[in-house]
Amino acid sequence: MRTLWRNAHLVTLAEANGWGFIRRGALIVDDATLRWVGSDADLPAGLSVDAEHHLDGELVTPGLVDCHTHLVYGGQRAREFELRLEGASYEDIANAGGGIRSTVAATRAAGDGALFYAARLRALALMAEGVTSLEIKSGYGLSALHEARCLRVARRLGEELALTVRTTCLSAHALPPEFEGRADDYIAAVCAWLPSLHAEKLVDAVDAFCERIAFTPAQTRRVFETAHALGLPVKLHAEQLSDSGGAALAAEFGALSCEHLEYLSEAGVQAMAKAGSVAVLLPGAYYFLRETQLPPVAALRAAGVPIAIATDHNPGSSPTLSPLLMLNMACTLFRLTPEEALRGMTVNAARALDLRDRGTLTVGRRADFVAWNVEHPNELSYWFGYNPCARVIAGGKERSAE
Ligand code: NIG
Ligand code: FE
Repeated sequence: MRTLWRNAHLVTLAEANGWGFIRRGALIVDDATLRWVGSDADLPAGLSVDAEHHLDGELVTPGLVDCHTHLVYGGQRAREFELRLEGASYEDIANAGGGIRSTVAATRAAGDGALFYAARLRALALMAEGVTSLEIKSGYGLSALHEARCLRVARRLGEELALTVRTTCLSAHALPPEFEGRADDYIAAVCAWLPSLHAEKLVDAVDAFCERIAFTPAQTRRVFETAHALGLPVKLHAEQLSDSGGAALAAEFGALSCEHLEYLSEAGVQAMAKAGSVAVLLPGAYYFLRETQLPPVAALRAAGVPIAIATDHNPGSSPTLSPLLMLNMACTLFRLTPEEALRGMTVNAARALDLRDRGTLTVGRRADFVAWNVEHPNELSYWFGYNPCARVIAGGKERSAE
């Protein structure tokens, strides 16, 4: 099936810098692949296509990639939000047995269908703002049975929606109550169940939460060694609330990405640069936890570490379903340029998920793109609380309202 999309302004992001504009551009798509990208005026003569679409001068960018979410869980944590407004800190709540652990209880109590339908609604909200690829982490099941249930729900979302889903096993997210005081035993249990999750093809990458309220670098290392033995790539929730040297540890294992990074040190930046890891910055969590320590954006830029931006959707620290708001916050809070923000949610986010076939409008790449009702790509970071998404094409097919 060959499709022609014409009369659009293309933002290809094809080079390392610049928007890669093609005014009055056209795209030829063969099935799910971009076959031709260029100016309308240069379309090959005598071209025959199965379908032709006119984009009315809309602006077309690569599909958005939300490379860090915790989309599958039960319940919500609005009461915890109130407690934080009254003065409790995120760490106080976690140490008192609330926080992630309360979501674990709600997730374990929810049936598979309830987990699926709640996560489906969240995915649809992300898709409505142009998301075509999405990472979903486990980490609210925290037992072999419940982690597998959550990862199966994530896989099913990818099968039933016009969306690519990458799954990440984050069993080392928090200590479940049945392992109280026995964190090393819990890590041993995680290392023991990873092979069966992998054998069921439920895991694309392995993550951990390396932090004083979660797991130590030594415990994180054990999880990474198991992942490595299975041939699975790693990523890490690192330096969110303090500097534990997690990024340097992840870099030793050639991590795809390190995520959060507010407390990342210069040594951590250099280790990531050497390993080629992507820095995934999460302005939603920074905002919602009212953090004041900014991630070291200037040092990451200077070292050439690619920066990605994601929603970090989760019920505790970032209950947002707006990738566009994250582009705005990446600029207002972290001082990224609008171009850096868009690269952060397209090409660099794809790299954080090891999806090398997407993220730019380039011949040979997957035909995931979005038509926006805006004149310039800087508007994607400028408007907030407004969604100018006009059409979404995922894998070459225009997505209908689901
Ligand atoms: O990415 N930092 C750890 N994990 C999540 C929050 C999880 C929660 O509070 O439920 C995050 O911010
Ligand atoms: Fe997270």
